[in-house]
Amino acid sequence: MRTQICIIGGGPAGLFLSHVLHAAGIDSVIVERQTKQHVLGRIRAGVLEHGTVELLRQYSLSERMDRDGMPKDGTRIVWQGKDDFFIDTMRWTGKRMMIWGQTQITEDLYAARERDGAAIVFEAANTTLHDITGSPSVTYEKDGIPHRIDCDFVIGCDGFHGPSRMAIPADIRREYERIYPFGWLGIMVERPPLKELVYAYHTDGFAMASRRNPMLSRYYVQVPAADKVEQWSDDRFWDAFLRRVPENMAQQVQTGPSIEKSIAPLRSFVSEPMRWGKLFLAGDAAHIVPPTGAKGLNLAFSDIFYLSRALITHYDEGSDHYLDCYSEMALRRIWAAENISWKLTKLLHVFPDEDPFDQKIRQNDYDLLLASEEVQQALAYEYIGLPFED
Ligand code: APR
Ligand code: PHB
Repeated sequence: MRTQICIIGGGPAGLFLSHVLHAAGIDSVIVERQTKQHVLGRIRAGVLEHGTVELLRQYSLSERMDRDGMPKDGTRIVWQGKDDFFIDTMRWTGKRMMIWGQTQITEDLYAARERDGAAIVFEAANTTLHDITGSPSVTYEKDGIPHRIDCDFVIGCDGFHGPSRMAIPADIRREYERIYPFGWLGIMVERPPLKELVYAYHTDGFAMASRRNPMLSRYYVQVPAADKVEQWSDDRFWDAFLRRVPENMAQQVQTGPSIEKSIAPLRSFVSEPMRWGKLFLAGDAAHIVPPTGAKGLNLAFSDIFYLSRALITHYDEGSDHYLDCYSEMALRRIWAAENISWKLTKLLHVFPDEDPFDQKIRQNDYDLLLASEEVQQALAYEYIGLPFED
């Protein structure tokens, strides 16, 4: 088989790239390790930056989002069960965000790609990249039968554990990482959610309230990294969550049995460069953020904005300008998202090894937010996500 673009990974990044390239008349093949059902079964955050919302609308992927999503002018932070502060992104940036689940976006992407007759290989095994600095190809096995795809470019959208990043020589790759000593225990509950998305800091640990739709709530509590989900009954979860939020908020929470419960580890990670020869990385294949800033999906979309523009310019105009500057341009936005995600994670979580000095600094950071509109505006600017570069 031959195609213009071989995409490894059928998650949000790979699907969105394939969708945008199709709209530009550029052929691609997606090689995905799992089944479609497995991909759609992943529980993921869904807080969309303004830029992501606009991309979904631009590419006709926003009908359900605009009908069922929840626009939001900011995010509330409650503190030690009493104070609270609203990151008013609408007031300070003129932009609003949207709460809309990644699973729904992935469903809409698969529906659009299948409608357009996309070439997607599911359950591909032993996906391997070849000659990525010369005439690239990708091999894989399907039902035990070997296949090979010759292509102009290989795009690694295969997430943190995929093969693409490792195809870049170790002496070329520069990796930056923070592994956090805690995780997020998340539950899904078939109950009406709170009216807002709320982050809570408490000396017991972080907690958060979110939603998927008017009858589906998502809640989290910080737990030690070594904890197993079996150690957390629903009752233990609710007891911990309700202790970490203010009384008036706790009274509004409609608790109930969990229909999904899991612990996600927290990590900050960036691998540079995001290009090697004819291989380009996008999304979680190149970077990971802790969920505190809900930047993972947004970074996948901004990478694809830059990379699709670069590939379309290459084929339509014969210019490699955007291909040549893709890595540096994408990384500027990625590091800004890593930065705000790290700042919010430090502000809102209890670190096992922190001392009273750390705690006083954290309290002062919060007091500054409460007291200073300049500090609030700076936080809102970082939280909403940098504008895309021309
Ligand atoms: N061969 C083929 N496909 C693979 C391989 C492989 N060897 N390894 C991984 N994959 C697939 C995975 O099965 C997954 O479907 O690559 C896809 C990567 O998708 P994601 O991990 O969702 O990454 P991405 O598309 O970049 O989206 C980032 O997803 O994980 C969340 O928090 C993350 O919101 C962010 C978003
Ligand atoms: C979620 O809705 O699951 C969610 C929202 C915001 C975050 C993380 C997760 O920062």
